[in-house]
Amino acid sequence: MSVGKRFKIASIGAGNVGASVAQYCLEMELGDVVLTDIVEGLPQGKALDLTEAGPIRGYSGICTGTNDYADIAGADVVVVTAGLPRKPGMTRLDLLGTNGRIISGICESIATHAPNAVVIIVTNPLDVMVYLAHKKLGFPANRVIGMAGCLDSARMRSFVAMELGVSMKNVDTMVLGSHGDDMVPLPHYTTVSGIPITKLISQERIDAIVERTRKGGGEIVALLKTGSAYYAPAASAARMVQSVIRDEKQLLPCAALLTGQYGLNDIFMGVPCVLGANGVEQILELEISEADQQSLHRSAGEVQSGIDGLKELGIL
Ligand code: NAI
Ligand code: 2OP
Repeated sequence: MSVGKRFKIASIGAGNVGASVAQYCLEMELGDVVLTDIVEGLPQGKALDLTEAGPIRGYSGICTGTNDYADIAGADVVVVTAGLPRKPGMTRLDLLGTNGRIISGICESIATHAPNAVVIIVTNPLDVMVYLAHKKLGFPANRVIGMAGCLDSARMRSFVAMELGVSMKNVDTMVLGSHGDDMVPLPHYTTVSGIPITKLISQERIDAIVERTRKGGGEIVALLKTGSAYYAPAASAARMVQSVIRDEKQLLPCAALLTGQYGLNDIFMGVPCVLGANGVEQILELEISEADQQSLHRSAGEVQSGIDGLKELGIL
């Protein structure tokens, strides 16, 4: 009898997003999960709690909690959510210095203990942190991916579904660019069961949906007041883990290293990617309008200023 491989997923940061990533990965039967954090007891407590939910929820994966990076050894996928979240009035870029130092340290540990993993970065400011991780890890670029486009497009999908009163399952969309107010939602690539939304929704309402998508993270921060969104972000990261672990080749918007695509070089930004066992296996170049191309380059300018900021702080 051939024995199937049991996958190992490391979730670094056992806060709101990290613990929810662990929960979704277990529920989706993607493998065993190692939850890691610097706070003693926090990952151990959440991991035990998640494992004890298994008999009721019907999953068989084991979740272990640790403060020791040696325990991530052999992980197939590492999801990094460690770092500060935004509070009201803060931009994602306000997190640059603190989260940059945290990501640098964590990347050293990942490179030592899980050198063959596919690494998914979630920590903000996302496009800058994933660039930093790429530089610090020294892994091939296909194995370092940023999670944001999946979340932003999930938000847009839900807004379109709510607008039309149709199932979210029927809505597909694509959001490119950086994970910030300059992101580039693409209504022309948004469909409901194959029907372009431009045939179903007025331009005025489409513009409102695009604007709500761009500000989707801030809308939740303003409501929560003490932190930022975590259910949809964690679900998005888990979907990326699924495509890698099961080699599904899902086409998802992810932050990937650009080497000339969309006229951009040496920068990570959200583009349509095929995710499989090797991480980013293809980047698709869509035909986009002149206005969207300009927005994409404005987005890239914002990311570049974050990268320059890391250099000024001596982190990069
Ligand atoms: P949280 O505060 O609930 O959790 C963060 C955890 O990181 C804490 O438990 C903290 O102890 C831990 N941590 C700090 N330094 C660490 C280190 N060196 N090693 C291991 N763990 C460490 O924050 P939350 O809500 O989970 O958000 C985490 C990050 O994800 C934030 O930067 C947030 O802005 C970002 N985020 C990004 C999204 C995206 O679309 N890319 C969406 C949602 C959140
Ligand atoms: C979000 O978009 C905070 O980046 C996070 O919800």
